[in-house]
Amino acid sequence: MKKLILVAGARPNFMKIAPILREIERHGSLQAVLVHTGQHYDNNMSETFFRSLELKDPDYFLGAGSGSHAVQTAAVMVAFEKVCLSEQPGVVVVVGDVNSTIAAGLVAKKLQIPLAHVEAGLRSRDRTMPEEINRIATDAISDLFFTTEEEGNRNLLAEGHAREKIHFVGHVMIDNLLYQLKKIRNSPPPKRGALIRSVLPEKYICLTMHRPSNVDDKETFSRLLGAIRELSLGVPVIFPCHPRTWNRINEFGLGELFHSIPADEVQKQVERGLFATEPLAYDDFLYLWKDASLVLTDSGGLQEETTALNVPCITMRENTERPITVDIGSNIVVGTDADKIVALGRKALNGGWKKSSVPPLWDGRASERIVSVLNGSL
Ligand code: UD1
Repeated sequence: MKKLILVAGARPNFMKIAPILREIERHGSLQAVLVHTGQHYDNNMSETFFRSLELKDPDYFLGAGSGSHAVQTAAVMVAFEKVCLSEQPGVVVVVGDVNSTIAAGLVAKKLQIPLAHVEAGLRSRDRTMPEEINRIATDAISDLFFTTEEEGNRNLLAEGHAREKIHFVGHVMIDNLLYQLKKIRNSPPPKRGALIRSVLPEKYICLTMHRPSNVDDKETFSRLLGAIRELSLGVPVIFPCHPRTWNRINEFGLGELFHSIPADEVQKQVERGLFATEPLAYDDFLYLWKDASLVLTDSGGLQEETTALNVPCITMRENTERPITVDIGSNIVVGTDADKIVALGRKALNGGWKKSSVPPLWDGRASERIVSVLNGSL
């Protein structure tokens, strides 16, 4: 059987590989070797996600772990080279824009194994972001490009890639979203999500924040938290907190700004305030944000997921590599200006958001298109 290696390393990769693996299994003509690089390793950043996404255990766990960019990238490369040499796959498939993506891509290409990039062609044009370097470098060496929006096609063509290698397939992240949504609707709601939802009023905000540019600088982080706190005087803000962000909260002594919702002891209704939780499983968090009045984020994927479900989204970044979420979706990129965040946040809470629509091909069938192309090219 034709063999491919599918690589995932960090939380935003896991939801992208789940529908691809499901489709490979359904299709039955390809063998997928699943490699987890170990870039994310905490239980609630990795294992919990594997479970809530119904992912099989990885065939290889590389244990790369944290460290500087060089240390992390190198650790993935050294370990992944051994896997490629022993498995001899027909193609290596990488997703997204994290350090594991470029590390595995480099290894594959140096061994002359064809490389396929899922979510190719996105550009923020902000080279201070490590993800932008990972995107540009991965696309520079890829043989097959799977894109999520027309802008991705245009970027790749402008960078000199051949049209026939670019496949506009839609978005695997949305395949996963629609799959999980159906599951939530057809079975008992996820426990933690339901517990937290049960104490919230009708209007509430979901928050995620972990970009180095937002949380690593005390002044910027405090300014953003100031705006968020202001919004939280009117409604509860639920904040599943990334380990990087927790580290900064402790380091900067900002812990007293937060209340916490303890895991299994939620009983009292809350009317307002900023509530931090540990990172939530995919389904628990989806259960919360799908009904939120507003999502405040600096994530890439959540900008797209909120667009798919038409939930108002404010992105606390200066730019986005996913412009369709702004052009036709529910996303507004606002930067880190506290006054603007508060003003726009209030607008969303009062129901005054822009009309949005779902981008072309975000129909839950991207994996089907990808597997069909892979099958033909192997
Ligand atoms: C990475 C991705 C980013 C993505 C994010 C999602 C890169 C360059 N960045 O950023 O694009 O949006 O994942 O989460 O690849 N940590 C833990 N436990 C873990 C993982 C991380 O404690 O399981 C802590 C460590 O202190 C680590 C820090 O978080 O140093 C940052 O982790 P890292 O993987 O380097 O980057 P992220 O900020 O998670």
